[in-house]
Amino acid sequence: MNTSIEEIRQRHELLKQKIRHYDYHYYVLDKPEITDAEYDKLFRELLHLEANYQQYLNVADSPSQKVGGGILPAFAKFDHRKPMLSLNNIYTYQELIEFDERLKKILKSDEEIIYFVEPKFDGVALELVYENGQLVRALTRGDGVTGEDVTENARKIKNIPLRLLTSSPPSLCEIRGEVIFYKKDFKRLNELQSELGGELFANPRNAAAGSLRQLDSRVTAKRPLRFFAYALGFYHREELSVSSQSDLYKWLSQIGFQTALFYSPIALVKKCQGISEIEAFWKQMNEFRHHLPFEIDGLVVKVDPFELQETLGEVARAPRWACAFKFPPEQQATTVTNIFFQVGRTGVLTPVAQLKPITLGGVTVSFTTLHNFEEIIRKDIRIGDTVLVHRAGDVIPEIIKVLVELRPPHCQPVTYPSVCPACQSPTVADSEEVAIRCANPNCPGIRMAQLKHFVSRKAMNIDKVGDKLIEELFSQGLVRKFSDFYRLKEEDLLKLPRKGNKSVGNILTSIQKSKKVTLSRFIYSLGIRYVGEVTAQHIAHHFMTLEQFLSASEEDLLKIDEVGPKVARAIREWLRQPENKKEIEEMLKLGVEIIPEQNLATPESPGHLSGLTFLITGTLPIPRTAAERWIIQNGGRMATSVTKKLSFLVVGDAPGSKLEKAKKLGIPLISWEELQKKAQKPEASSEKSSYNNP
Ligand code: IVH
Repeated sequence: MNTSIEEIRQRHELLKQKIRHYDYHYYVLDKPEITDAEYDKLFRELLHLEANYQQYLNVADSPSQKVGGGILPAFAKFDHRKPMLSLNNIYTYQELIEFDERLKKILKSDEEIIYFVEPKFDGVALELVYENGQLVRALTRGDGVTGEDVTENARKIKNIPLRLLTSSPPSLCEIRGEVIFYKKDFKRLNELQSELGGELFANPRNAAAGSLRQLDSRVTAKRPLRFFAYALGFYHREELSVSSQSDLYKWLSQIGFQTALFYSPIALVKKCQGISEIEAFWKQMNEFRHHLPFEIDGLVVKVDPFELQETLGEVARAPRWACAFKFPPEQQATTVTNIFFQVGRTGVLTPVAQLKPITLGGVTVSFTTLHNFEEIIRKDIRIGDTVLVHRAGDVIPEIIKVLVELRPPHCQPVTYPSVCPACQSPTVADSEEVAIRCANPNCPGIRMAQLKHFVSRKAMNIDKVGDKLIEELFSQGLVRKFSDFYRLKEEDLLKLPRKGNKSVGNILTSIQKSKKVTLSRFIYSLGIRYVGEVTAQHIAHHFMTLEQFLSASEEDLLKIDEVGPKVARAIREWLRQPENKKEIEEMLKLGVEIIPEQNLATPESPGHLSGLTFLITGTLPIPRTAAERWIIQNGGRMATSVTKKLSFLVVGDAPGSKLEKAKKLGIPLISWEELQKKAQKPEASSEKSSYNNP
């Protein structure tokens, strides 16, 4: 086993232990043992380890999992005028029958109850207090009795009305609902976080909770949160003429809230007389939920008339008149029918488990990556094993664990791949990276993976050329190198199986469209080892033109703060190969054209921080990765250490040793707030700050 991974694991265990200990002293005994800054430092280290080595660590019992629950000491606390209740869960139709029977018994009536059935949003509950139609406060659920004041953050949520859309608003009313993250926004947020090496959110719910409970509402403002209203808190009865849940939905929609009422192509709510229709609706929604842009984890069945709700009342913090009819979890057992290794574009062999197909999260799952050989050994996954597979939202399915008790006899552990599956040449172990690689530079497997990378969305984005087509083109000898895509002719493609005029036309158009490409995308497309999307952006930003990049020496490359010796060497090595340079020339001849970057500052529109380098110390009001990205987008550059070349040290709370060093070197210091102002002023980039260091 790789010792560095083992060390990381030990460090992780120790951090978990320490933080638990300090948590107990802080939250339970109310006697903090260390300062907030010291605690923060430990916690950040924990999050950092988990973000980078998640697959090797046991995160389930980590204090990081607690973030997003409970009351943060930093938020002001307010009691809810009316407690925010929770819901009892049911999982089967039989339980729904029992629920309905119980209610009829309490009501002493055989008459069918009218229910209103709505989605159970998988987000975080929020209460909005409106006085005379104006939003005056927003509280999280907290412990149900006391919530946290997140008013400023709630104001930033685009679909929360700051004023109710009615000319005669009630003097006071509280609207409750759920703050959610759309699946696509969640994916995008995590992509951004992972690219920047930041903290990843486990699911859209955590992303919503984390974004709502930000101490700096500017961060919340940047997160695309949405609010769906579904309930009332406190209100004066005489002021509202709403007498049922179905009425409430109509009223909420009228006064400016988004609800589940109007949603196409199918209604997400249903008024039902008795429970007989609920089962069919539940089944329909259980299927349809995978097509929804947000996650729901069940339906909420509510007695429709408020009068009956009042009669039924509540027990133990949950209403008697409602229940959550949950959907089955997106987790299933299946068998591993095969484990094989796939060679990637950099030659790394990735193990893949083939599964007996299962439907999870609305899609069929037949394969799942096992990340690396280490992981197979750690989870002890063998061909023939029954495993538990999990898939939430759009996240890649993952084997959670082996159900060892179901393991058939004579099941053998997976053997180490000593030869490449594509070219059969011997593999080499890359101890630094837990990786096993194919060392054959001409391996057809690597070639094919490079071509797939080249066309991928974040690279050249040739969206009509998928993996299958690449395999066909490759085996026919039509595409062997990048430039071959730009040589493809209609008649070549028409010869392929199942390709008619229309699809061939689409393919050629998407290839044609890809010819206009930014420098960063182009560099990323080349598939140079260690050059990911973000590194490619830094490189493009530094050199600005393809010519400058192509003629860059290792020394030139090292001038980019984000490029270390390993990366510089890999790039130089790549550029040194005559066939690589020739490929680029060929592509340019065939019409590939480098266009200006869209998001990053360009020579034509330099960001206001252009020409300045920054380094951050201490805690900023926004995550560090987001701050770094912001600096880069405004034309600045990030340094990796305090040197004389540094233009500014950005100082947050509880700064570290960098501050002392910067002071010694006379580097100007700047606060995050000042920096933001600076970026708005065009002339600011040339002036130095006087903050704290005149
Ligand atoms: S009604 C008194 N309606 O589920 C009933 N809650 O398990 C409680 N939730 O904290 C609120 N969708 O965050 C209601 N359509 C919906 C809901 C919903 C999601 C959440 C809510 C609540 C939790 C209770």
